[in-house]
Order: sequence, then structure tokens, then C-alpha cells
Amino acid sequence: METSINKQIQEKTNHIESILASYLPEEKGYQKSVLAAMNYTMNAGGKRIRPMLMEETYLMFGGKDRNLIEPFMAAIEMIHTYSLIHDDLPALDNDDYRRGRKTAHIVYGEALAILAGDGLLNYAFETASKAFRGDSRDITTAKAFQVLASKPGIYGMIGGQTADVVDEDKEISLDELLFIHKNKTSALIECSMMIGAILAGASQEEIHTMEGIAQKIGLAFQIQDDILDITSTQEELGKPVGSDQKNNKNTYVSIKGLTQAMEDVQAYTNSAIEDFDTLPYKNTYLRDLLLYLSGRKN
Ligand code: IPE
Ligand code: IPE
Ligand code: MG
Ligand code: MG
Ligand code: MG
Repeated sequence: METSINKQIQEKTNHIESILASYLPEEKGYQKSVLAAMNYTMNAGGKRIRPMLMEETYLMFGGKDRNLIEPFMAAIEMIHTYSLIHDDLPALDNDDYRRGRKTAHIVYGEALAILAGDGLLNYAFETASKAFRGDSRDITTAKAFQVLASKPGIYGMIGGQTADVVDEDKEISLDELLFIHKNKTSALIECSMMIGAILAGASQEEIHTMEGIAQKIGLAFQIQDDILDITSTQEELGKPVGSDQKNNKNTYVSIKGLTQAMEDVQAYTNSAIEDFDTLPYKNTYLRDLLLYLSGRKN
């Protein structure tokens, strides 16, 4: 199982890389420095989990139109990448490495890194809007577009990042930590899986079930990220370790301890899988991927 899932993930990742490449802007014109900074971080690799979860959810619910899902896959990775560029800025986590390379602000300077983040956020919507056709199918596409607008926003990722940053050096409750994790991280995973379901024509109830599964997977994902910040190496992660301690962050590990954190990654993942197994659809690869993420090493 171990080797076969690794091989499948590699193949799926390659497929997503080729989709992303086709949606990136050409580096030309007087604004080419910002386009270069955008492409630099987009092309640095990364696990591509969000577009992968989106596409696999779309396939699971019977979606078949590549021209509909692919602009949204590119868009979610652009939004995620913008969140990383800004997360690494000196004013936020102040980290020098990302995806195995120097961060955008180290290479291009802070001004261009800020603009590259802004550029990716805006270009994500320009890209997703390519899925509109000018016919009745646009009603569904508009619902997906609305989720793409809201989950990364003030009641989602930005909300979580805000609490994460303003709570540095403070003691907070587990409830507030869960708010941070659900928003800074689960929100984009919910966004991905919900859009996959919506575009494939899933029912309201099914979309809601996917949102719940994604929230648990996102929590497990961020708890594992907090664990790896302590237990891994920069070489393996492609980003600095010890970043959370350096910034005096509240993390799942700082509040619950390493052993409990490891147990809870499994518990949230298992609970998500239980919900997943109630669905009358099958996507064995997606199920294996959700399980795999809980034990990921980077
Ligand atoms: C990093 O996300 C930020 C978190 C929400 C933990 P990923 O671990 O998905 O980063 P990449 O895309 O693989 O670089
Ligand atoms: C950030 O969480 C999540 C984002 C919305 C970018 P972290 O600050 O823990 O992510 P890493 O560890 O820098 O990737
Ligand atoms: Mg951060
Ligand atoms: Mg960070
Ligand atoms: Mg982290």
C-alpha cells in the first residue's frame, strides 16, 4: 500500500503540475517583475493537495468536464500560494525558506512579495471566471465561485491568520486555537472539496457532508503541520523548522502536548473517514489520500 499510494500521488501531482503550468501568466510587460515573483513561488512545487482534493471530489461525484474544474483547481492553488507568500513575510512569520527555496521576499524584496500575493489572489478569480460559459450551467459555476470568494476570506482563512498573528505571545483557550486551525487551514480544504462537489452537481446535503469531512481533514492537517515544525528538518519540509517557537505561536502541540497532538491527528482523520464512508460514492484513491495525509512527513 505504501509504495502504491506514493506512486499514485506522484502521478496525480504531475497531472496537476501540467494544469497549473497552463494557467500561469507569461512574464512579460512592464509588470513582469511581479509576474516572475508569482510564478517563482507557484513553480517551486508544493504538495498540490488542494487542487488534488478538489479534482478527486469532482470525479467522485461524477464530474466529467475538464474545462469546468481545471480553472478552479488552478485558482485554489494560486490562493493557497498567495497565503504562503504573505505568511512568510517579515511582518507575519518572517521565514526565509518555502517549498525548498528562498522565500519570495528574500529573492524579490518585500514590496514585490506583497504585490505577488495580491496578484495571485486577484488572478485566481480571473482564472476561475474562465469556467463561465454564458449559459444555464453558469448557475452552478456561480455557486462554486461564491465559495471560492468566501472560504479564503475574513470568515475563513484571513480570519484564522488574523487570530494566529494577534495571539502571538498570549495564552489562549483550546477553543480559540481550534478557531485558528479551522479557519487558517480547514477553510481552504473545505473550499476545495466543496467546489469539487458543487461543480459535479452534488446535492446541498452532500456538499455539507464534504464541508464537514474537509474541516476534520484540515484540522488533522494543521495539527500535523504543528508537529512537523518540531519533529522534522528543513531539508524534509522545504521550510524552516522551529518557526512556531521562534514566533511564540500557540499551536496544537504547545497547548495539548506532542503525544496528544499525534493521537488527535489520527482521531480527526478517522472521524473524517467514517463520514466519508457514509457517502454512496466511491473514490478509493481519495480515501487513501485522506488517510495518507495524517502520516505525511512534509
Ligand atoms: C502549508 O500548506 C500551510 C498550511 C496550511 C499548513 P502545505 O503543507 O499544503 O504547503 P505546500 O503547498 O505543500 O507547500
Ligand atoms: C499558515 O500556518 C497557514 C496559512 C494560511 C498560510 P503556518 O504558518 O503554520 O504554515 P507554515 O508552517 O508556515 O507553512
Ligand atoms: Mg503562520
Ligand atoms: Mg508560517
Ligand atoms: Mg506551520
